[in-house]
Amino acid sequence: MSSSGAEPTQRLFFALWPTGAVRDAVDRFARQAIRKRAKRIPSEKLHITLAFAGSVTADVRDCLETGAERIAAEPFDLRIDTLGYWPRPRIIWAGPGQRPRAAWALVKSLRELFLACELQPEARAWQPHITLARKAGRGLEATQMEPIDWSISDFCLVESVTDDTGASYRILRRWPLVGQ
Ligand code: 2AM
Repeated sequence: MSSSGAEPTQRLFFALWPTGAVRDAVDRFARQAIRKRAKRIPSEKLHITLAFAGSVTADVRDCLETGAERIAAEPFDLRIDTLGYWPRPRIIWAGPGQRPRAAWALVKSLRELFLACELQPEARAWQPHITLARKAGRGLEATQMEPIDWSISDFCLVESVTDDTGASYRILRRWPLVGQ
């Protein structure tokens, strides 16, 4: 997944990034649903990862950007209506119960792009989720959520920078979903 050698690298991933009303609704839900002991993710960091590239060189980044430009995927809607807890990473998440075909198609295109850029795509199936809190016990006050409808019209390439305070994210580029 990562590139070898002493060349500078960036830790990159493709993601869906909510803004405005969707982000605010997810954040509002997380505030009231998650107990204080869990480390809640601030609203500006909420996202769904589509494909995680890891640490890559500038050449690989170029390859990813050039390839992403050529992806012809259709816009789609996600209904965020499902809550979950994964004990191994100790995260609380929210995600779509239904995963539209266009979403899978986009992930498939990105996985193919990874191969073309000599990156190893993840072996695991895509599990679309917005991480709401880390270092969480089963600290959920809610078992259900009011569905939040999210119309997805673009995807983005994001850099993750980790320091003492955790990860911060920088959106490098966005591409519209325009269909065939
Ligand atoms: P997570 O929220 O479930 O931890 C940036 O790290 C984003 O990439 C996060 O959304 C993270 O998912 C996701 N991701 C997927 N695979 C990863 C990996 N192997 N290491 C770190 N983050 C990964």
